[in-house]
Amino acid sequence: MKSPAAPPLDEPRKFEIDEMFFSTTDRRGVIQLGNEIFVRVSGYSEAQLIGSAHNIIRHPDMPRAAFRLVWSRLLAGQPVVAYVKNCAADGRYYWVVALITPIAGGFLSIRFKPAASLHDVVQKAYADMRAAERALEGESDGGRRGMDAADEILAAALRAYGCADYETFMRVVLHQELRGRDEQLQREGRRIIPLWPTDALPAGPAGKNGRVPARGLRRRTPGHLAILPRRATRPVPSRFRGPKRPGFRLCPIASLPAR
Ligand SMILES: Cc1cc2nc3c(=O)[nH]c(=O)nc-3n(C[C@H](O)[C@H](O)[C@H](O)COP(=O)(O)O)c2cc1C
Repeated sequence: MKSPAAPPLDEPRKFEIDEMFFSTTDRRGVIQLGNEIFVRVSGYSEAQLIGSAHNIIRHPDMPRAAFRLVWSRLLAGQPVVAYVKNCAADGRYYWVVALITPIAGGFLSIRFKPAASLHDVVQKAYADMRAAERALEGESDGGRRGMDAADEILAAALRAYGCADYETFMRVVLHQELRGRDEQLQREGRRIIPLWPTDALPAGPAGKNGRVPARGLRRRTPGHLAILPRRATRPVPSRFRGPKRPGFRLCPIASLPAR
Protein backbone atom coordinates (compact mmCIF):
# COMPACT_ATOMS: atom_id res chain seq x y z
CA MET A 1 0.00 0.00 0.00
CA LYS A 2 1.29 3.47 -0.90
CA SER A 3 2.49 5.78 1.84
CA PRO A 4 3.45 9.45 1.37
CA ALA A 5 6.96 9.79 -0.11
CA ALA A 6 9.43 12.42 1.05
CA PRO A 7 9.90 15.43 -1.29
CA PRO A 8 12.54 14.77 -3.98
CA LEU A 9 16.13 15.50 -2.98
CA ASP A 10 18.96 16.26 -5.40
CA GLU A 11 20.98 13.41 -3.92
CA PRO A 12 21.64 9.96 -5.40
CA ARG A 13 20.68 6.76 -3.68
CA LYS A 14 23.66 4.45 -4.04
CA PHE A 15 23.69 0.87 -5.28
CA GLU A 16 26.26 -1.35 -6.91
CA ILE A 17 26.93 -1.88 -10.59
CA ASP A 18 26.26 -5.63 -10.30
CA GLU A 19 22.98 -5.29 -8.44
CA MET A 20 19.95 -6.21 -10.55
CA PHE A 21 16.43 -5.29 -9.58
CA PHE A 22 13.34 -6.98 -10.77
CA SER A 23 9.65 -6.53 -10.25
CA THR A 24 6.53 -7.90 -11.84
CA THR A 25 3.19 -6.15 -12.17
CA ASP A 26 -0.29 -7.06 -13.27
CA ARG A 27 -1.69 -5.64 -16.52
CA ARG A 28 -2.41 -2.29 -14.81
CA GLY A 29 1.10 -1.82 -13.41
CA VAL A 30 0.33 -2.90 -9.84
CA ILE A 31 3.40 -4.51 -8.25
CA GLN A 32 3.08 -8.25 -7.61
CA LEU A 33 6.64 -9.32 -6.87
CA GLY A 34 10.11 -7.87 -6.47
CA ASN A 35 13.52 -8.73 -5.15
CA GLU A 36 15.37 -7.50 -2.09
CA ILE A 37 17.48 -5.07 -4.11
CA PHE A 38 14.34 -3.28 -5.27
CA VAL A 39 13.12 -3.17 -1.65
CA ARG A 40 16.43 -1.83 -0.31
CA VAL A 41 17.12 0.78 -2.97
CA SER A 42 13.54 2.04 -3.20
CA GLY A 43 13.49 2.47 0.57
CA TYR A 44 9.97 1.06 0.80
CA SER A 45 9.14 -2.14 2.63
CA GLU A 46 8.01 -5.17 0.74
CA ALA A 47 4.54 -4.71 2.24
CA GLN A 48 4.41 -1.13 0.92
CA LEU A 49 5.55 -2.14 -2.57
CA ILE A 50 3.41 -5.23 -3.15
CA GLY A 51 -0.04 -4.09 -4.23
CA SER A 52 1.06 -0.50 -4.99
CA ALA A 53 1.03 0.99 -8.47
CA HIS A 54 4.57 1.10 -9.89
CA ASN A 55 4.39 4.89 -9.94
CA ILE A 56 5.07 4.71 -6.18
CA ILE A 57 8.70 5.41 -7.18
CA ARG A 58 7.92 7.90 -9.96
CA HIS A 59 10.26 10.86 -10.05
CA PRO A 60 8.80 14.25 -11.07
CA ASP A 61 11.78 14.85 -13.41
CA MET A 62 10.70 11.95 -15.61
CA PRO A 63 8.92 13.11 -18.77
CA ARG A 64 5.35 11.85 -19.07
CA ALA A 65 6.10 11.05 -22.71
CA ALA A 66 8.64 8.43 -21.64
CA PHE A 67 5.94 6.49 -19.78
CA ARG A 68 3.47 6.95 -22.63
CA LEU A 69 6.03 5.28 -24.87
CA VAL A 70 6.64 2.48 -22.34
CA TRP A 71 2.95 1.71 -21.98
CA SER A 72 2.16 1.93 -25.69
CA ARG A 73 4.81 -0.71 -26.41
CA LEU A 74 3.83 -2.96 -23.49
CA LEU A 75 0.13 -2.87 -24.32
CA ALA A 76 1.01 -3.74 -27.92
CA GLY A 77 2.81 -6.82 -26.55
CA GLN A 78 6.32 -5.46 -27.20
CA PRO A 79 9.26 -5.25 -24.79
CA VAL A 80 10.76 -1.86 -24.08
CA VAL A 81 14.12 -0.58 -22.86
CA ALA A 82 14.27 2.83 -21.18
CA TYR A 83 16.35 4.89 -18.80
CA VAL A 84 14.26 5.76 -15.75
CA LYS A 85 14.97 8.16 -12.91
CA ASN A 86 13.24 6.91 -9.78
CA CYS A 87 12.47 8.50 -6.45
CA ALA A 88 13.19 6.49 -3.29
CA ALA A 89 11.04 6.75 -0.19
CA ASP A 90 13.53 9.17 1.40
CA GLY A 91 13.37 11.50 -1.64
CA ARG A 92 16.76 10.55 -3.08
CA TYR A 93 16.92 9.61 -6.76
CA TYR A 94 18.39 6.63 -8.58
CA TRP A 95 18.71 6.01 -12.29
CA VAL A 96 18.18 2.60 -13.83
CA VAL A 97 18.24 0.99 -17.24
CA ALA A 98 14.94 -0.88 -17.39
CA LEU A 99 14.06 -3.74 -19.68
CA ILE A 100 10.32 -4.28 -19.35
CA THR A 101 8.54 -7.09 -21.12
CA PRO A 102 5.06 -8.58 -21.22
CA ILE A 103 4.63 -11.86 -19.34
CA ALA A 104 1.57 -13.97 -18.62
CA GLY A 105 -0.90 -11.80 -16.71
CA GLY A 106 1.24 -8.67 -16.67
CA PHE A 107 4.77 -7.34 -17.04
CA LEU A 108 8.30 -8.01 -15.82
CA SER A 109 10.91 -5.28 -15.35
CA ILE A 110 14.61 -6.00 -14.95
CA ARG A 111 16.71 -3.00 -13.97
CA PHE A 112 20.34 -2.24 -13.43
CA LYS A 113 22.66 0.71 -12.99
CA PRO A 114 23.52 2.77 -16.09
CA ALA A 115 27.22 2.73 -17.00
CA ALA A 116 27.33 4.03 -20.59
CA SER A 117 27.86 7.56 -21.90
CA LEU A 118 24.54 7.32 -23.76
CA HIS A 119 22.92 7.82 -20.37
CA ASP A 120 24.24 11.42 -20.36
CA VAL A 121 22.62 12.07 -23.73
CA VAL A 122 19.29 10.77 -22.45
CA GLN A 123 19.47 12.74 -19.19
CA LYS A 124 19.84 15.95 -21.20
CA ALA A 125 16.99 14.94 -23.56
CA TYR A 126 14.70 14.09 -20.62
CA ALA A 127 15.37 17.49 -19.00
CA ASP A 128 14.42 19.24 -22.25
CA MET A 129 11.39 16.98 -22.67
CA ARG A 130 10.16 17.70 -19.16
CA ALA A 131 10.65 21.44 -19.66
CA ALA A 132 8.56 21.28 -22.85
CA GLU A 133 5.83 19.38 -21.02
CA ARG A 134 5.83 21.83 -18.11
CA ALA A 135 5.62 24.81 -20.49
CA LEU A 136 2.30 23.50 -21.84
CA GLU A 137 0.81 22.37 -18.52
CA GLY A 138 -2.47 24.13 -17.76
CA GLU A 139 -3.12 24.95 -21.41
CA SER A 140 -5.96 23.42 -23.36
CA ASP A 141 -4.96 19.88 -24.27
CA GLY A 142 -1.55 20.79 -22.81
CA GLY A 143 -0.89 17.31 -21.43
CA ARG A 144 -1.09 15.62 -24.80
CA ARG A 145 0.60 18.47 -26.68
CA GLY A 146 3.41 18.51 -24.12
CA MET A 147 4.05 14.80 -24.59
CA ASP A 148 3.97 15.19 -28.37
CA ALA A 149 6.55 18.00 -28.13
CA ALA A 150 8.63 15.82 -25.79
CA ASP A 151 8.49 12.93 -28.29
CA GLU A 152 9.96 15.24 -30.94
CA ILE A 153 12.78 16.28 -28.63
CA LEU A 154 13.65 12.67 -27.84
CA ALA A 155 13.51 11.62 -31.50
CA ALA A 156 15.81 14.54 -32.45
CA ALA A 157 18.30 13.67 -29.70
CA LEU A 158 18.36 10.02 -30.78
CA ARG A 159 18.80 10.95 -34.45
CA ALA A 160 21.68 13.24 -33.50
CA TYR A 161 23.24 10.24 -31.76
CA GLY A 162 22.86 8.13 -34.91
CA CYS A 163 19.75 6.17 -33.89
CA ALA A 164 17.11 6.42 -36.61
CA ASP A 165 14.31 5.24 -34.31
CA TYR A 166 13.56 3.97 -30.82
CA GLU A 167 14.03 0.32 -31.87
CA THR A 168 17.61 1.09 -32.86
CA PHE A 169 18.14 3.12 -29.71
CA MET A 170 17.03 0.19 -27.52
CA ARG A 171 19.54 -2.14 -29.15
CA VAL A 172 22.31 0.45 -28.76
CA VAL A 173 21.41 1.01 -25.09
CA LEU A 174 21.56 -2.69 -24.25
CA HIS A 175 24.79 -3.16 -26.13
CA GLN A 176 26.52 -0.12 -24.62
CA GLU A 177 25.18 -0.68 -21.13
CA LEU A 178 26.28 -4.32 -20.95
CA ARG A 179 29.69 -3.29 -22.28
CA GLY A 180 29.93 -0.40 -19.83
CA ARG A 181 28.92 -2.68 -16.98
CA ASP A 182 31.53 -5.28 -17.88
CA GLU A 183 34.20 -2.62 -18.27
CA GLN A 184 33.42 -1.18 -14.85
CA LEU A 185 33.49 -4.63 -13.24
CA GLN A 186 36.77 -5.26 -15.00
CA ARG A 187 38.24 -1.95 -13.72
CA GLU A 188 37.16 -2.93 -10.22
CA GLY A 189 38.85 -6.31 -10.63
CA ARG A 190 35.57 -8.20 -10.35
CA ARG A 191 34.21 -10.83 -12.66
CA ILE A 192 33.03 -10.02 -16.12
CA ILE A 193 30.12 -11.71 -17.78
CA PRO A 194 30.73 -13.27 -21.17
CA LEU A 195 28.64 -11.63 -23.86
CA TRP A 196 28.87 -14.48 -26.32
CA PRO A 197 28.46 -18.25 -26.19
CA THR A 198 31.78 -19.57 -24.97
CA ASP A 199 31.47 -23.16 -26.30
CA ALA A 200 34.47 -22.90 -28.57
CA LEU A 201 36.69 -21.34 -25.93
CA PRO A 202 39.45 -23.22 -24.11
CA ALA A 203 39.14 -24.00 -20.41
CA GLY A 204 41.90 -22.71 -18.14
CA PRO A 205 43.39 -24.48 -15.16
CA ALA A 206 41.61 -24.31 -11.84
CA GLY A 207 43.04 -23.69 -8.41
CA LYS A 208 43.17 -26.49 -5.86
CA ASN A 209 39.81 -28.26 -5.38
CA GLY A 210 38.21 -26.04 -7.97
CA ARG A 211 38.85 -22.93 -5.87
CA VAL A 212 40.24 -19.74 -7.31
CA PRO A 213 43.39 -18.72 -5.44
CA ALA A 214 42.98 -14.94 -5.55
CA ARG A 215 40.36 -12.36 -6.33
CA GLY A 216 40.03 -10.36 -9.51
CA LEU A 217 40.48 -10.51 -13.21
CA ARG A 218 43.48 -12.42 -14.57
CA ARG A 219 45.14 -12.27 -17.91
CA ARG A 220 45.64 -15.98 -18.63
CA THR A 221 46.92 -15.97 -22.17
CA PRO A 222 47.52 -13.01 -24.47
CA GLY A 223 44.23 -11.67 -25.76
CA HIS A 224 42.13 -13.59 -23.24
CA LEU A 225 40.51 -12.53 -20.02
CA ALA A 226 39.62 -15.06 -17.37
CA ILE A 227 36.08 -14.95 -16.09
CA LEU A 228 36.30 -15.35 -12.36
CA PRO A 229 33.61 -15.78 -9.77
CA ARG A 230 33.10 -12.73 -7.61
CA ARG A 231 34.57 -14.04 -4.39
CA ALA A 232 38.00 -15.53 -4.37
CA THR A 233 37.30 -18.33 -1.97
CA ARG A 234 34.13 -19.66 -3.53
CA PRO A 235 34.30 -22.84 -5.58
CA VAL A 236 34.26 -22.18 -9.30
CA PRO A 237 30.66 -22.74 -10.45
CA SER A 238 30.27 -25.62 -12.89
CA ARG A 239 29.23 -23.29 -15.72
CA PHE A 240 32.70 -21.70 -15.65
CA ARG A 241 34.47 -25.03 -15.79
CA GLY A 242 35.81 -26.67 -18.88
CA PRO A 243 34.29 -29.92 -20.10
CA LYS A 244 37.18 -32.24 -19.05
CA ARG A 245 38.85 -30.64 -16.09
CA PRO A 246 37.79 -27.87 -13.72
CA GLY A 247 38.83 -24.37 -14.67
CA PHE A 248 37.36 -21.23 -16.05
CA ARG A 249 36.45 -20.39 -19.57
CA LEU A 250 38.36 -17.68 -21.36
CA CYS A 251 36.76 -14.99 -23.42
CA PRO A 252 38.81 -13.71 -26.37
CA ILE A 253 38.93 -9.93 -26.22
CA ALA A 254 39.04 -9.74 -29.99
CA SER A 255 35.59 -11.37 -30.27
CA LEU A 256 33.92 -8.50 -28.42
CA PRO A 257 32.35 -5.80 -30.60
CA ALA A 258 33.78 -2.29 -30.84
CA ARG A 259 31.82 0.31 -28.91
C1 LIG B 1 6.74 -3.69 -15.02
C2 LIG B 1 6.68 -2.19 -14.88
C3 LIG B 1 7.73 -1.53 -14.27
C4 LIG B 1 7.70 -0.14 -14.10
N1 LIG B 1 8.74 0.46 -13.48
C5 LIG B 1 8.68 1.78 -13.24
C6 LIG B 1 9.71 2.42 -12.52
O1 LIG B 1 10.73 1.82 -12.15
N2 LIG B 1 9.58 3.75 -12.27
C7 LIG B 1 8.49 4.46 -12.69
O2 LIG B 1 8.41 5.67 -12.40
N3 LIG B 1 7.52 3.88 -13.40
C8 LIG B 1 7.59 2.56 -13.69
N4 LIG B 1 6.59 1.97 -14.41
C9 LIG B 1 5.55 2.82 -15.01
C10 LIG B 1 4.45 3.18 -14.03
O3 LIG B 1 3.46 2.18 -14.10
C11 LIG B 1 3.81 4.54 -14.38
O4 LIG B 1 3.31 4.50 -15.69
C12 LIG B 1 4.80 5.71 -14.26
O5 LIG B 1 5.42 5.74 -13.01
C13 LIG B 1 4.11 7.05 -14.51
O6 LIG B 1 3.19 7.28 -13.51
P1 LIG B 1 1.99 8.32 -13.70
O7 LIG B 1 1.13 7.77 -14.79
O8 LIG B 1 1.31 8.36 -12.39
O9 LIG B 1 2.61 9.60 -14.10
C14 LIG B 1 6.59 0.60 -14.60
C15 LIG B 1 5.54 -0.07 -15.23
C16 LIG B 1 5.60 -1.45 -15.38
C17 LIG B 1 4.46 -2.16 -16.07
